Amino acid sequence: MAPMPASEGFSLGAGLQSRVTLRDGVRMPVFGLGTWKLAAGRSTRDSVRIALEAGYRLFDTAKLYANETDVGAALAAAGLPREEYFVTTKVWNDDQGYETTLRAFEKSRRALGVEQVDLYLIHWPVPGKRLDTWKALEKLHGDGLCRTIGVSNFTVDHLKELFAACSIRPTVNQVEFNPFLFQRELLEFCRENGVQLEAYAPLTRGQQLAHPVVQHFAKAHGKTPAQVMLRWGLQHGVIEIPKSSRVERIKENAGALTFELSAEEMAELDRLGEGLRTTWDPTGLA
Ligand SMILES: NC(=O)c1ccc[n+]([C@@H]2O[C@H](COP(=O)([O-])OP(=O)(O)OC[C@H]3O[C@@H](n4cnc5c(N)ncnc54)[C@H](OP(=O)(O)O)[C@@H]3O)[C@@H](O)[C@H]2O)c1
Repeated sequence: MAPMPASEGFSLGAGLQSRVTLRDGVRMPVFGLGTWKLAAGRSTRDSVRIALEAGYRLFDTAKLYANETDVGAALAAAGLPREEYFVTTKVWNDDQGYETTLRAFEKSRRALGVEQVDLYLIHWPVPGKRLDTWKALEKLHGDGLCRTIGVSNFTVDHLKELFAACSIRPTVNQVEFNPFLFQRELLEFCRENGVQLEAYAPLTRGQQLAHPVVQHFAKAHGKTPAQVMLRWGLQHGVIEIPKSSRVERIKENAGALTFELSAEEMAELDRLGEGLRTTWDPTGLA
């Protein structure tokens, strides 16, 4: 078996029940469903229901996705004890600032229909606003309205700035991360500072599934290219939240938890990191 370079407390042994203990003690599933581009209404509700039935316990939404109400409705309809599932949402750029974030959070919380949001994230590091936004997240955390707080699309420089100004450090940084955008420096910085990295666009939004190296390892393991990409992230100790609207793919993606890449295979996949961005690059956000 290859060594598992996962972060402290990051365990993969329990399949979709596997969790990581964040720095503040909150236990977060290491694998979940992304919901960007899931249309509001039936499409979102069906995908969340199918994922729940398949064993997913982490659901990632945002005000921007306009589907919080449906994510919340599908979670409630499943009738699971509240502590069994974990829901993340995010404050969008237009709402950033202290008071506006507090108001946006309350709308998101009500849309989701939960007493507590498990993880609330700053969606993007908006210049001139992100530090006031963070103060609002600290207040929400202090008031017990979200269990843990984090950021998204923060670079090392954004994190250093935040560390110098904050009372509570973020527990999670959700960024674009996959074998074609291997952000090694950011991963190491986050690990050294107790920030759990979470990968968005873990499947390159489908763009690199036909890459020959990924295909080769998929064949070698009797797995699919999507499972190989997701497994690569998990073995780096990164939380994965692939999105799919299709029942067979939602089940397929969870198969990333059922095999292991060797150290040599990991290293070869690491070398694919050629800086592909499928969304915006936050590097220049001063
Ligand atoms: N914080 C941020 O700024 C940010 C930005 C982007 C995304 N996110 C979050 O991260 C989640 C994941 O990222 P993403 O949705 O951009 O990209 P992704 O998960 O890398 O890719 C999703 C795309 O891949 C397809 N797909 C899913 N499983 C597949 C499989 N097994 N085989 C082939 N194709 C497959 C999906 O199509 P079908 O639906 O047709 O299956 C969809 O087109 C989002 O949904 C969202 O929750 C956050």
